[in-house]
Amino acid sequence: MDLDLAGRVAVVTGGSKGIGLAVTRALLAEGARVVVASRSRTPELDALSGEVRHVPADFMDPSAPAEVIARAVEEFGGLDILVNNAGGPPPGTKMPQFGFLGLTDAGWQSMFEFNLFSTVRACRAALPLLIERGGGAIVNVSSGHGRQPSGVNVDYGAAKAAMMNLTKALSEEFGPQGVRVNGVCPGPVKTPWWTDAGGAADIFAAHIGSDRDSVLTSVAPQMMQLATGRLIEPSEIADVVALLVSPRSASTTGAEFVVDAGWLKST
Ligand SMILES: NC(=O)c1ccc[n+]([C@@H]2O[C@H](COP(=O)([O-])OP(=O)(O)OC[C@H]3O[C@@H](n4cnc5c(N)ncnc54)[C@H](OP(=O)(O)O)[C@@H]3O)[C@@H](O)[C@H]2O)c1
Repeated sequence: MDLDLAGRVAVVTGGSKGIGLAVTRALLAEGARVVVASRSRTPELDALSGEVRHVPADFMDPSAPAEVIARAVEEFGGLDILVNNAGGPPPGTKMPQFGFLGLTDAGWQSMFEFNLFSTVRACRAALPLLIERGGGAIVNVSSGHGRQPSGVNVDYGAAKAAMMNLTKALSEEFGPQGVRVNGVCPGPVKTPWWTDAGGAADIFAAHIGSDRDSVLTSVAPQMMQLATGRLIEPSEIADVVALLVSPRSASTTGAEFVVDAGWLKST
């Protein structure tokens, strides 16, 4: 299927690793031009071929989202697609965190700053440009934790739930101007967040007396009752994002796509 993305201009936040890198790869494969924003480059990003630019940005800085969007216009003359993917543990935080009482005001604020307010600011900067082009698409990468409240990652789940509420509100307000806004709710995805030393797999392993490889291959899939029996590949999220930003999805807006290996049983 031709996704009709050739030549379109996309911004992918957090596109240097994990899900964002896979989204960038998928959009480039469809002929899109992509601006990737993250604090650092990675060898995997540098190895991509196609029309891709990296903009160094820290989304804890309130001015960063608008600066990134402006760079897309400078580089490629406009904007058609925004993928708000940067998120997860804010700088200096490790996740999962177990329980509510250990969370501080400062922790809650940085969780919302990174996962919600950076998206609010990116949407605010992008929407006039999308409207100017006659329409476009935004995808917000939320999480199954935004749908399934849990004692693990309470603040993260609340921020991601708010992100989905924002998604639906924006889809209603800007639909008449041709802008579609959708969300993707991944289950556990095998990204550096999980696999890095000191990452989520190591934290779970320390919590339950296991090891990183066992958590990744069997403990986490069993614990989360994943119907597929394995963590999700980043490309499996990216393919859904690519379809959602495509004009082929012209009647899909305000929707939440759960890609969770069968984790959530009530959706
Ligand atoms: N992996 C999962 O299991 C999972 C499940 C559900 C939802 N999600 C969501 O999917 C999204 C991507 O997660 P992931 O697992 O792919 O994460 P990841 O592997 O840790 O990659 C995170 C990306 O965000 C960038 N980033 C981190 N902090 C940043 C900051 N302060 N400013 C700008 N960029 C920053 C990173 O680059 P730099 O470090 O160089 O800045 C990297 O490009 C997040 O929104 C997360 O909540 C993930």
